[in-house]
Amino acid sequence: MESEGRNGKKLILVPGPFQGHLTPMLQLATILKSKGFSITIAHTHFNSPDSSAHPDFTFLCIPDGLSEEEVRNPDLMSIVQRLNVNCESSFRECLTRGTNHMEPVDKICCIIYDAVVFFSEAVARDLKVPSIALHTSSAATTIVRPILLQLKAQGHIPIPDSMLQALVPLHQPLRFKDLPLSNFGSLDYFLELVVLASKIRSSSAIIFNTIHCLEESPLAQLHQHYQVPIFPIGPLHKLAPTSAVSLLQEDTGCIPWLDKQTHNSVIYVSLGSIAHLDQDQLSEMAWGLANSKQPFLWVIRPGSIPGSEWIESMDEEFKECVKDRACIVKWAPQKKVLAHEAVGGFWSHCGWNSTLESIGEGVPIICQPCFGDQNVNARYLTHEWKVGLELEGEIERGTIERAVRTLMKKKEGEEMRQRVLDLKHKCDVSIVDGGSSCHYLSELVELLRSF
Ligand code: UDX
Repeated sequence: MESEGRNGKKLILVPGPFQGHLTPMLQLATILKSKGFSITIAHTHFNSPDSSAHPDFTFLCIPDGLSEEEVRNPDLMSIVQRLNVNCESSFRECLTRGTNHMEPVDKICCIIYDAVVFFSEAVARDLKVPSIALHTSSAATTIVRPILLQLKAQGHIPIPDSMLQALVPLHQPLRFKDLPLSNFGSLDYFLELVVLASKIRSSSAIIFNTIHCLEESPLAQLHQHYQVPIFPIGPLHKLAPTSAVSLLQEDTGCIPWLDKQTHNSVIYVSLGSIAHLDQDQLSEMAWGLANSKQPFLWVIRPGSIPGSEWIESMDEEFKECVKDRACIVKWAPQKKVLAHEAVGGFWSHCGWNSTLESIGEGVPIICQPCFGDQNVNARYLTHEWKVGLELEGEIERGTIERAVRTLMKKKEGEEMRQRVLDLKHKCDVSIVDGGSSCHYLSELVELLRSF
């Protein structure tokens, strides 16, 4: 079966067009390819993946109808909203017009789609093709999202100050302040999106990029909530370690720099692919890092500081002060960085991919969630798995300096490192024969072959 190759059963995979969504879908594609399926990635024109990095896949571009202005200044929520409206008919047309690239619809065995691009499910249902949803956030995030709707109905959004610190019943360790609210666009549309993206409709199953041992309780709740099989088959990046997924050019120059640093000495800093910083926050982060005296590798995405191209506005005094122990890049090969023995800690926004990548390499985290599911992940890192340190409140240099020192130098940090190494081991066990992710992956493959 592993060698069915190009003639294997045909799967169409539809990723969400953002880094944190493309990454797990392309990894899943690589895994399913290795199981003998033939893979077509049906992607929007917006943020289209690099097809040359995946010669084994067929790529199908869905016309998305976004204007140049929408693409230049993407507003996350409205992009998702527009894609779900615009792409339904164009995707259907792509699948039915039977170009040279495409097989007839009746040869497609399943459409696997990111839950945020649910137009795909409507097309699958219409064409009578089985479909499966991929949720790219944690199980804990998915199970608590409906609570936001209840709170809205009770008039409790924005969440009143008096409730913020209270624990969410049945969902400990989450507090109401950790619930995954978005910072983008209107609240009403966000909540509408929550409803639409969490509906299973005609789909046959749900895939999660998570691991049973990390999220036993939320996964059990999901099993009760949904009447279809749930497949927790993460961490996908460990099952598909060579899958090229980056939308931005990686600066590999930081690896020789890491080679010169001592074991566990470097703190790696990245706030992911979406978050922005203002000038004051940038300056506080910079001086917090400088004053900690630790070497650091810092990813600052071009355009992530409004008003600046990159780091030209940064204090010259800071640059001079850290020149012997800092490496600042526009985009890093993050998985290689986290796997490097010089890296002893990660200061992260706690996006779900980054969370899994850090756990997967046994690197403890300073948690600075920016929005949405990152709050849930941060709370799990600090209070469930106890492998992270919470940075709460305003970004302030003194707090940062103390957090970096604690993580990198103090007993508390060392204890977190031991616990995260333990989790890493459990993740490693989950993906080999007899492990939970390996087992669920076999079940998923069996289901796909049965279509
Ligand atoms: C967004 C949301 O912020 C996140 O909470 C949600 O779970 C997915 O969508 P993002 O900001 O992209 O995610 O964060 P994350 O999920 O961590 O994904 C970022 C990806 O970019 C990771 O796979 C990471 O390895 C990669 N990355 C990041 C790089 O390859 N290089 C970098 O320099 C920074």
